[in-house]
Amino acid sequence: MDGPDDGNVFPGNWDVVSDTLLRTYELWFPQNWSPVDLPWDECDSKNFSPEERVAQAYWLSKLALFEKSGIGAFGAAAVQAATHEFEDPTKKFLSAVAFDECRHDEVCRRACSRVCPGFPYKFKPESELEEKAHRNIMALYENGRRYWSAFNQAWGKYPLELIFSSFFFAEIGAQLIFREVGERSTNKVYAGAFRNITKDESRHLTGTLAMLERLAERMTPVQKVMISRQMKHGFIYLSPLLFKPMVDFWKLPEDFFEYDQKLEGLAAGSGLGVPKVEDRKEAWMQAITRHRSKIEELGIPVPEIKEIGVAGLEVSVKKGDEIIATPL
Ligand SMILES: [Fe+2]
Ligand SMILES: [Fe+2]
Repeated sequence: MDGPDDGNVFPGNWDVVSDTLLRTYELWFPQNWSPVDLPWDECDSKNFSPEERVAQAYWLSKLALFEKSGIGAFGAAAVQAATHEFEDPTKKFLSAVAFDECRHDEVCRRACSRVCPGFPYKFKPESELEEKAHRNIMALYENGRRYWSAFNQAWGKYPLELIFSSFFFAEIGAQLIFREVGERSTNKVYAGAFRNITKDESRHLTGTLAMLERLAERMTPVQKVMISRQMKHGFIYLSPLLFKPMVDFWKLPEDFFEYDQKLEGLAAGSGLGVPKVEDRKEAWMQAITRHRSKIEELGIPVPEIKEIGVAGLEVSVKKGDEIIATPL
């Protein structure tokens, strides 16, 4: 039987505390879009070479790792918010984000099934490039298991407020990468999908910043520094997609990056507009800088992230540390 502190979705509440969060959540309805309606004929394996096909499937499967952890994390967060009596827009906003992550993962699934059926789960590589692409993805997903175990345990270890207040950082990165991919994509499926995904991510960013603002009001300086740490963790977790994999967490084959770059180049050349590492680095730094004053106004120090040229509070993360970060 549930004890008094285990929480329960009943009796629930329909309280609205943050108007900004309510308005952000409400935007989900008019901005709703369907991955089913994208011009899928444009994404046909006949239009691409075998190398281009596996390269597109590779990047989409890399992206799907973060979308999948998003489905899990935001879904779990929605349940936590409901059982612990958070205001109504928090519960509904988090549920809507979980659904958006399903929609993003669905774009990845559909595109992979067209250009490279079975990739990655049931794929049998037939060339060296295919073998390396498949191996890279499996290595990432294996690391993803480690991430997820630690994230799952965080619910009992850290205050909910701390976990919720850190969601915004990944959204800064998400909004940035998808806008870049959408603008660079010449294939109509990818251009359309990533334009819509960017709209979703902008909404996620507005909403998670509204949550942060609410929650930070009642936080101590020590708790605020914990958010800085979460931001650093977020950088490390998202690094394989938004920059290049940080070895603090990611244990990957030695030639991982060499093939990663080769595959990303092929994907970009065939209409899926993945930006180059140097462009991503610059764009990520710019995106953090754009939000810096807002974060600092709330008393939260931005962590130093030397790798992409962000100055700030020194936060040390040792190799093998658990990474408690939130996904896209
Ligand atoms: Fe997403
Ligand atoms: Fe997101």
